[in-house]
Amino acid sequence: MKEKFYITTPIYYASGAPHIGHAFTTIFADVISRYKRLKNFDVFFLTGMDEHGAKIAELAKKTPQEFVDELAEKYIGLWKALEIENNDFIRTTSQRHKNGVLNFFEKLKESGDIYEGFYEGLYCVGCEDFILERNLVNGLCPDHLKKPELIKEKNYFFNLKKYLPVIKEKIEKNKIKIIPESRKNEALNILSGDLPDFSITREKVKWGIPYPFDKNQIIYVWVEALLNYITALDFSIDFSSGEKLKKYWPADVHIIGAEINKFHTIFWPALLMSVNLPLPKKIFIHGLFTINGQKMSKTLGNIIDPEKLAEKFGADAVRYFLISQFPASEHGDIKEGGFVEKYNSDLANGIGNLFERTFTMALKYGADFKSIDEEVKKNSDEIIKKYEFHMENFELYESLREVFILAKFLDRYLNDKNPWTLYKNNPSNQEISKILNSVVFGIETIIKMLNPFMPEKMKNAEIFLNKLKNKEIKDGDKLNLFPRV
Ligand code: MSP
Repeated sequence: MKEKFYITTPIYYASGAPHIGHAFTTIFADVISRYKRLKNFDVFFLTGMDEHGAKIAELAKKTPQEFVDELAEKYIGLWKALEIENNDFIRTTSQRHKNGVLNFFEKLKESGDIYEGFYEGLYCVGCEDFILERNLVNGLCPDHLKKPELIKEKNYFFNLKKYLPVIKEKIEKNKIKIIPESRKNEALNILSGDLPDFSITREKVKWGIPYPFDKNQIIYVWVEALLNYITALDFSIDFSSGEKLKKYWPADVHIIGAEINKFHTIFWPALLMSVNLPLPKKIFIHGLFTINGQKMSKTLGNIIDPEKLAEKFGADAVRYFLISQFPASEHGDIKEGGFVEKYNSDLANGIGNLFERTFTMALKYGADFKSIDEEVKKNSDEIIKKYEFHMENFELYESLREVFILAKFLDRYLNDKNPWTLYKNNPSNQEISKILNSVVFGIETIIKMLNPFMPEKMKNAEIFLNKLKNKEIKDGDKLNLFPRV
């Protein structure tokens, strides 16, 4: 039987069109999913939409449901355009999600961790989170540059305090494994502060799932959003009855951005512990993009639309751009103008050119695809090992770097061995075929490694190469993998 691998992205707010930040996380998770499928895992890759809460209710010009329906369509369309192969798409306005949430609340109530209280404090609608006075900058939420609302209302609270010591220990001992280390330290920092119990309901917000034990309250949007990871697996009161839950839970990895660390590394494990469910194995937290040094925002008008990028460069190139900018462990800046240059240097002149000229020579000089130079084989094998090590650790940028090390090596090898001069001097020189066989072998390794990143292009390259080997390619047929832009 195949080993299972459950991977998730955050569910995105249905509050605006997707941008390259959302695309980055989803592509990142898709690359890992594809890699794991190639490694014969039974992958369950979940993404979806977070459709409730005050922010969305405020934004909706029509009914909130119509508003979120339109946005869900937009996201689904984008994931198709970017070749995302998710196994499921959960929406928090769906009946199955609501059922799962209500089941969860039955359990939570039984645990005795809910109590009634009164909340008086500040709330940032942009974050959908309570915010402390001391964290404001000039009276504004530093992330949304908005003045938070003062809220005074009855809420039901979750006894988070009870779980904090054990969560801290689990994080320290990597029982909840937070990657990278810097984000683990951030979580531990948050834990060392004074974390209050959190509200699990809101009184004044109307767009949400009604709290089953008090009709005047709805469930706090962050709590039900986190539950998506199990409602998508048909979470039911009787844990053992749900086939999907039994099969896939706990998640092997949650992929999230740095700004929602606390919800995933502290609140989520506490809620799960309260109902005796196993905790996610790993949480990978990536850094955030800025554009030309600035936070992406509608007001600044610096949002890059991933769909437009895909129209211009193709889906695979966009997947490549976003992952290859900087290591996901760090925050980083993107320059929109940099895409053309990167496309031409890495893809058109780099990988594309290496494939093209090798295939052209293999055809022209009649490579027999038999003997291979040991040096090339050894190098390719060593590089693929390093690549796999990085892939297993979610270091996708670093994996790509290995691919390019091999591509550069093959370029150099071709230049050094100089098969065109050998051919000119003596067309029946046996050495020529061996050189080309070897580079083709290296290219096959590259195709294998790049497959999860650029599935369509690599499939095309593979088909072309197979035809070449079967002598089905005519002189003048070109692969033309990455035409220059
Ligand atoms: N709805 C919540 C998540 C609930 S998960 C149970 C939410 N949604 S969001 O639409 O704001 O999406 C946040 C996620 O989108 C980030 O955690 C990250 O994965 C991705 N990104 C959003 N902006 C980003 C950047 N500027 N850079 C990189 N990724 C970013 O929070």
